[in-house]
Amino acid sequence: TAVTSEKLVELAKRRGYFFQSSGAYGGVGGFYTFGPQGAALKGNVEDAWRDRFAVAEGNMEIDAPTIMPEPVFEASGHLDGFDDMLVECPECGESHRADHVVEDNTEYEDAESLPIPDVEEVIAEYELVCPSCGAGLAGQAVETFNLMFATNIGPGDAQPGYLRPETAQGIFVEFPRLKEYARNQLPFGVTQIGRAYRNEISPRRSIIRTREFTQAELEYFIDPETDEPDLESVADVEVTLYPASEQNEEGGEEIETTIGAAVEEGIVSSPWVAYFLGVAKPWYEAVGVDMDRFRFRQHLSGERAHYASDCWDAESEVDGNWIEMAGFAYRGDYDLSKHDEYSDDRFTIFKQYDEPKTVERATVDPDMSYLGPEFGGDAQAVVGTLEDLAARDRSAFEGDSVEIDLEGETHEIPVEKTGFAVEEQTEAGEHITPHVVEPSFGVDRLVYTVLHHAYREDEVDGEERTYLELEPEVAPTFVGVFPLQSDDALETEANEIVDDLRAAGLSVTYDDSGNIGRRYRRQDEVGTPFCVTVDFETVEDEETTVTVRERDTTEQKRLPVDDLAETLAAIRAG
Ligand code: GAP
Repeated sequence: TAVTSEKLVELAKRRGYFFQSSGAYGGVGGFYTFGPQGAALKGNVEDAWRDRFAVAEGNMEIDAPTIMPEPVFEASGHLDGFDDMLVECPECGESHRADHVVEDNTEYEDAESLPIPDVEEVIAEYELVCPSCGAGLAGQAVETFNLMFATNIGPGDAQPGYLRPETAQGIFVEFPRLKEYARNQLPFGVTQIGRAYRNEISPRRSIIRTREFTQAELEYFIDPETDEPDLESVADVEVTLYPASEQNEEGGEEIETTIGAAVEEGIVSSPWVAYFLGVAKPWYEAVGVDMDRFRFRQHLSGERAHYASDCWDAESEVDGNWIEMAGFAYRGDYDLSKHDEYSDDRFTIFKQYDEPKTVERATVDPDMSYLGPEFGGDAQAVVGTLEDLAARDRSAFEGDSVEIDLEGETHEIPVEKTGFAVEEQTEAGEHITPHVVEPSFGVDRLVYTVLHHAYREDEVDGEERTYLELEPEVAPTFVGVFPLQSDDALETEANEIVDDLRAAGLSVTYDDSGNIGRRYRRQDEVGTPFCVTVDFETVEDEETTVTVRERDTTEQKRLPVDDLAETLAAIRAG
């Protein structure tokens, strides 16, 4: 029910998970602040991601600027192609993403099933209406809108810059240095966790679609000819897959399978993409995504980003809607080739052959003196063109003369004047452009899913209770420590326990306000797995013990204080 989201957003604000930013100035759509609990939860999720995708995989991590100069995005294709389609309501003046208009006109929920590919025609033909005010949109022009935030670097407008729309470009542009750190050996991976910015036309559903968000991305560079993933390590991972072929079929269904079988049967064509799906699934489970509401969905061909040849999304179900939490894209050599072409640096890697190879090379005489003034003095261009031709098409040199085109004019040059020759050369290797496999996670959407899937309501002692069944690994506060009532001895003991638990690396909150039941409820709503209460038995009995209450069952046990830190730290560590 949609109600859970509404309740969650209210709880998130009340308990310090997240809330709209700059509220004192009316707030602005698409920007959220993570409060104390939210920042801690998000930090824990990021740490867990780093542990799995950087540390455990042996990948590097970098931290690049969020503003980059224009040429980067000319090369990456974002300047030209990172657009959404926008339609403005003639009545209320609000702009909407065209696909949201189609989505929100619920009779036409599934945009893909509409028979007319052009969205402007769809709007006209089906008489779709403005999602905000209900005015008819037929006849409205659909325009493209670039999603990048533009800025100027330094005074004046001589150097335009953009806030990065994906952290990935910060990795790609540094490839010439990063490959050195990887000792010029493929495969290697580089990760980055950081902010990305998109001037979304219509931000919506709280932190699910915002204008500033956090991505955790891995760019994994491979030699497509020789590198293979360790598929065996993930072959048995069970997954729910929703391939494009099923989505295109009426009544098409999700497929329950394993990563190993999915590769064997060609459902996931890239073994590298399959490998990362296999790594991601148990990781999502460990941080608290409900596996009954989780699937991998393949992009339809019209849906893929300009750089991807195949892409699978990790999706979670939230209030009956599937939301995209991550994309696993095969980017091929798109990005590195582009940066190689547009920049002065080389985005290739030297691949050494096992054995040096003897190859034939066709050459021309690099001495230009034989060329006469009929070439307007641009003898260098002639030689360059001849060299290209010799490398490409030796047969062009088989007759008496060779024809070349130069600035629109055709020139005939006697072959003997070109100094054409075929020589044998020994080569140790070649320069190749690596391919990129990219698992790209949205941290905010994951945090939202984790909270949503953890949201519970039950009854305790005849009272309604709300709690978050967060995994201990990511829960922002691990223990609440309470003195049973206002009393010096109890408070002193409780504070000592707080110090001990903090020294053991646990995140602890001390609370002495309100009755004990209320304090439990407060921590339940925050999702704190354990509460420790110091009572008179604690300070009076010979063996110092405390009450430890478990969040989900509300069961209480007495534990010796001496064992407390160790016991709880072991649970936190899993
Ligand atoms: N480098 C690849 C890339 O950026 P993407 O699918 O555009 O791919 C990756 O973004 C992830 O970033 C998405 O799966 C989503 O979780 C998150 N994301 C994208 N746009 C977002 C937005 N406006 N608000 C919150 N998260 C977003």
